[in-house]
Amino acid sequence: MLRLTSIDLNKSKIDTLAIAVCEDEDIHYDPIIEAVIRRALRLKEFNGEKDEIVTLYDVPDIKAQRVILWGLGKLEKTDREALRSMAGKTVKHCIKKRLTSLYFAVPDPSLIKMEMSALLEAMQEGAYLGNHLFHKFKGEEKKKALRQIHFRITKQVTQKMRQLSLRVDAICEGTTQARDWVNTPSNEKTPEKLTQSIVNLAKKQRLKVQVLNEAQLKQQKLGALLAVAAGSQSKPSLVLLEHKVPGAKMTLALVGKGVTFDSGGLNIKTGTSISDMKSDMSGAAAVAATLITAAKLKTKTNIIGAIPIVENMPSGQATRPGDIIRSYAGKTVEIGNTDAEGRLILIDAISYVIKRYRPQLLIDLATLTGACVVALGDKIAGVFSNDDDLASGIIASGEETHERCWRMPLPEDYKELLKSDFADMNNISSSRAGGAITAALFLSEFAADTRWAHIDIAGPAYLKSESAYCGPGGTGFGVRLLSATIRNYSDI
Ligand code: BES
Ligand code: MN
Ligand code: ZN
Repeated sequence: MLRLTSIDLNKSKIDTLAIAVCEDEDIHYDPIIEAVIRRALRLKEFNGEKDEIVTLYDVPDIKAQRVILWGLGKLEKTDREALRSMAGKTVKHCIKKRLTSLYFAVPDPSLIKMEMSALLEAMQEGAYLGNHLFHKFKGEEKKKALRQIHFRITKQVTQKMRQLSLRVDAICEGTTQARDWVNTPSNEKTPEKLTQSIVNLAKKQRLKVQVLNEAQLKQQKLGALLAVAAGSQSKPSLVLLEHKVPGAKMTLALVGKGVTFDSGGLNIKTGTSISDMKSDMSGAAAVAATLITAAKLKTKTNIIGAIPIVENMPSGQATRPGDIIRSYAGKTVEIGNTDAEGRLILIDAISYVIKRYRPQLLIDLATLTGACVVALGDKIAGVFSNDDDLASGIIASGEETHERCWRMPLPEDYKELLKSDFADMNNISSSRAGGAITAALFLSEFAADTRWAHIDIAGPAYLKSESAYCGPGGTGFGVRLLSATIRNYSDI
């Protein structure tokens, strides 16, 4: 979808040219663009202030049907995220106006004081992601995404930026795939259906795929995972995806929570707390999409994806509060609350992956606790880790991609709260306080001495209202973050 070009503005006939404008500094070098900006700035309604827009038609020297000028505000405040947002909003604007293609004039890197790669990456990400629509279930008033989005850069750098552009394209495709999975309603993504959908896409990218079905999960004694699945008509699975690189030094394991619907089970959720629980497989979506993307990009690290997929439902077969189950690792767990199901499927997936693949690093992604949303709001993920380098690697990558992460503590003494009178552990804390922390501590028991990080994405995985480069619903949070972490810190 993303294209690089160095067209002559006064020769090539195009539909729409978009130009970002700062209110206080020139950020474009091309004299033709400078001229049209001066022309726009003479108008009362346009000063280049943040999100001001003006559309000009029949501009002399530019063979575009229309030129959209988009205000960025002050240069000092124009960072990668400002560009990502501007690009996303411009694309959304064009979709609304029923346009089909768009050319962005990429600012001059030295004038905007940014590396060309960071500048182009941000604009391409915002544009690609802003162009994503989830309208599969809509009939008549369907919007149409733009077919192509072009970025005009100088001839000299086109060759150099080609790889970057392909990488952005692949990672954004992964992100929108994750959004599609999350947005799909639970009746259309039962554990069987979601498993099949992941397997199909993974095979297309030639990932090694293995699915443990219910019989195999029983045989291998993944008792915690099975306990969550017990109440549902649908059969659980553990999907294992492998991206193998001959000669790679290390193996990274990614584990993603895949609860296709979280009703709470017999401790059933009420009111609004149940309404968006189709999104409780956002960790699974991010992990699957990251592996598919890594395969596309021929990433040079071994990556294992482990995705436990279940539905958490109440029924006559459902696991009861007070039941005691035996996890894959052998520890027994008393079910204090059937709504604390994510940690149950995760501990079995984590133990299984560690035993079978012995990864050097393990990262799990999960919409794990409402408490994490209370602590950090719905736009910031909580990062818990037994390893400082891994935690800071993830957090720094999140700063690049604007998937914000905040380190949270794992205090040893809080483990007291997970004691059970009858089993080795309880799946809920005896205190209401610090719920995101006690959930992470529960997982930490099963990560043992593997370098591990847990990212609680309960907030940012799903946002009810749209934002600059995302529609309402699934955000795809984690795909860009994990892809950046793998690139930046493959040697942590
Ligand atoms: N899937 C939920 C967490 C969640 C809440 C995700 C809000 C997204 C938005 C999880 O399974 C859950 O129900 N957690 C409980 C834990 C409690 C029973 C200890 C919670 O957060 O209330
Ligand atoms: Mn739950
Ligand atoms: Zn859940």
